[in-house]
Amino acid sequence: MMERRDFSEYLAQAARETEQALDAILPEPEAAAERQLYQAMRYSVLAGGKRLRPALFFATLDAFSAPRAPFFHFAAALEMIHTYSLIHDDLPAMDDDDLRRGQPTCHKAFDEATAILAGDALLTHAFAVMARPILQVPAERQLKALGTVSWLAGVGGMVVGQAAELALSGQPLARAMLDCIYAKKTGALFSAAVSSAAILCGASDVQLHALGCYAEKMGLAFQVIDDVLDMESTADVLGKPVGSDEKNSRYTYASLLGCDAARHAAQTAAEEAVGYLVDFDRRADMLRQFPDFFVNRIS
Ligand code: FPP
Ligand code: MG
Repeated sequence: MMERRDFSEYLAQAARETEQALDAILPEPEAAAERQLYQAMRYSVLAGGKRLRPALFFATLDAFSAPRAPFFHFAAALEMIHTYSLIHDDLPAMDDDDLRRGQPTCHKAFDEATAILAGDALLTHAFAVMARPILQVPAERQLKALGTVSWLAGVGGMVVGQAAELALSGQPLARAMLDCIYAKKTGALFSAAVSSAAILCGASDVQLHALGCYAEKMGLAFQVIDDVLDMESTADVLGKPVGSDEKNSRYTYASLLGCDAARHAAQTAAEEAVGYLVDFDRRADMLRQFPDFFVNRIS
């Protein structure tokens, strides 16, 4: 059994590699008028963050014994998509939060228009980066990986989940509805990370299905704990405001069930997530660590 310390070191290494790749792929301004946009992109994407989606991408490469080096930029692109979603999520039109990753949110550090455009630019640049040819990966595999990320980050996942959450703010929601929203708004990007890595490695449809189910359940566990931390933690520890869900009149797992039962539900979802990896061998052991880590995280 791997020790927690080893897993933390695995995440730290993934974060270092992601940050190096981000620094290399973020564009440099060519004219003074472009400077603010580029500064805002770098400000948000290099502000810290746990780099969990790239780490999941790397752990999936491990499950297929694939080397990381040819894929660093692809993993960094996933982090750019995640960061765009955080920038837009924090805007006054959405959650209207002032703090993210321990620093003023992008629209506070710059202005709203710059924050919208920085998010747009991170999202679109991510796809340009993912489309760069990768040594020894057939183009049709890469095309399928791109299509999958696009679908899961957009109308097949994250954007739709976010839209549903906003549309239903203030309304009491059944648990099944929350499951559905969480699978999309949070699980879909985890799924994009593991599915794209698996596709690039030539995974079978059966393997892709199992990994998609794993990611969706893990997303549920992650988001339920996010709800709990929004109620129980502090802004200092989280690097973002607490009480954001209450402020936005949002029904969550934690408000529906209470924090203890919500934690229990997250633990169950985490165990179910690991169950979907039953047909993978020891090389998937790092993937098996994530759900439990997500349930026990403090930030
Ligand atoms: C925190 O991730 C993020 C979530 C809990 C996901 C919430 C979903 C959204 C913000 C989707 C928004 C979508 C749109 C289209 C605006 P984390 O704890 O990994 O954050 P970190 O990277 O800062 O560590
Ligand atoms: Mg939100």
